[in-house]
Amino acid sequence: MKRVAILISGGGSNMMALVASMTGDHPARPVLVAANDPAAAGLARAAARGIPTAAVDHRPFGGDRAAFEAALLAPLEAAAPDIVCLAGFMRILTPAFVDRFAGRMLNIHPSLLPRYPGLSTHARALAAGDAEAGCTVHLVTAELDAGPILGQGRVPVLPGDTVASLSERVLAMEHRLYPMVLRRFASGDLRRLDLP
Ligand code: GAR
Repeated sequence: MKRVAILISGGGSNMMALVASMTGDHPARPVLVAANDPAAAGLARAAARGIPTAAVDHRPFGGDRAAFEAALLAPLEAAAPDIVCLAGFMRILTPAFVDRFAGRMLNIHPSLLPRYPGLSTHARALAAGDAEAGCTVHLVTAELDAGPILGQGRVPVLPGDTVASLSERVLAMEHRLYPMVLRRFASGDLRRLDLP
């Protein structure tokens, strides 16, 4: 059974979708949910599901990313994960941290990468007049949102869409895509998955 640690920063709806999927014959189980914000709502949701949680507030570390990551590594290494899933984790990671989990750290990003790495993806897709939007699960490498793509889910952009309506449609696709990709990845299948 593969051990999965999930890093979050906020509500953790993707984390909850991953957690809900890891039952029965799934080849992985959640062993830790960690956040960089002690107030992240997802921590309480994970704890209510009986999953160990950890909070490592990044703010006392100021701009010292390496020191923050050293603090984050303590509970993370203690959980001995085989796979680390970033799920709405909004801190940029240093190459040293990424290297530690090379080939076994996944991220979900709310755009059809390589379009729109970084922030404000839905606003940028709307401003560009894109006919479709979506989400990407990829392996994390040192370059932001640029690692090998494991899966993508596409949704239409509809007339009158706002950031709110588009992000809601994409998020629903995220909740489908990420669990499917994680299940495949945990069973050793690295082939790219495209939805729908
Ligand atoms: C999701 O839309 C995720 O793709 C995005 O943050 C949201 C988190 O929602 N991640 C990024 O933008 C990463 N750069 P959640 O906490 O409800 O899963």
